Amino acid sequence: MISVPSEGKPESEIIVPTFENTLPYEFEDIKLQYDPTGNLKAGTGATVWDSSFVLLKYLESQFKKGLTKDNLSIIELGAGTGLVGLSLGTMLPNAQITLTDQASVVPLLKFNAENAKLSNVRVEILDWKQPPLLEQYDMIIMSDLITWPELYTPLVNTIDLLSNEETLIVFSHECRSFEKEQKFYQKLSKKFRFKNVDENEQDPVYRSDDLYLFTAKKKCE
Ligand SMILES: C[S@@+](CC[C@H](N)C(=O)[O-])C[C@H]1O[C@@H](n2cnc3c(N)ncnc32)[C@H](O)[C@@H]1O
Repeated sequence: MISVPSEGKPESEIIVPTFENTLPYEFEDIKLQYDPTGNLKAGTGATVWDSSFVLLKYLESQFKKGLTKDNLSIIELGAGTGLVGLSLGTMLPNAQITLTDQASVVPLLKFNAENAKLSNVRVEILDWKQPPLLEQYDMIIMSDLITWPELYTPLVNTIDLLSNEETLIVFSHECRSFEKEQKFYQKLSKKFRFKNVDENEQDPVYRSDDLYLFTAKKKCE
């Protein structure tokens, strides 16, 4: 059963989304529903964005090279349909993976996670504007989130709350306006060191000149 985030509303006012008009989507082993009609009102979270493939294929290669540890904890921010996190869930059965997004996206994300039947994956509401007091993770992953300048500060603050100096942050982004997006990088660089993943280290197919991939770590205080 899909539980719908109620945001404090009485049960009578909670609208249960219908998944009737969503469409099946498949990438390698992972099967998802997405929502091109906007039926679920999940906004940008209803679509699988190109930079998520760049992130996923890079992470896959890093995990094949041995990037892992016992009980690795991973959190994905703005997970959307869940392609990256759910794929990692199948790839890393011993890791604990938390997929998060804002409340309006969580029904679709939960639907996809429940269909994937992965005991190592959970779905949580996490709105960057109201980050709860959270645990810190070994890894934070994100794709295509540097879209809204008004959310740059809440997003950087959320990353800050979820990380310590050991946390590896890996994120991808499709550049649409460098002028606008550079403000995010400036804010991030106050607390984090980050570097561009060279094209040669990325997947030979799933990369593109306008899709950027970065790793970041928190600076030592
Ligand atoms: C362009 S989509 C990317 C989705 C997915 N990561 C991908 O690459 O396919 C941006 C995501 O950021 C999420 N988002 C936007 N504002 C947010 C907020 N305040 N808190 C949490 N997530 C948010 C959206 O719901 C959406 O899932």
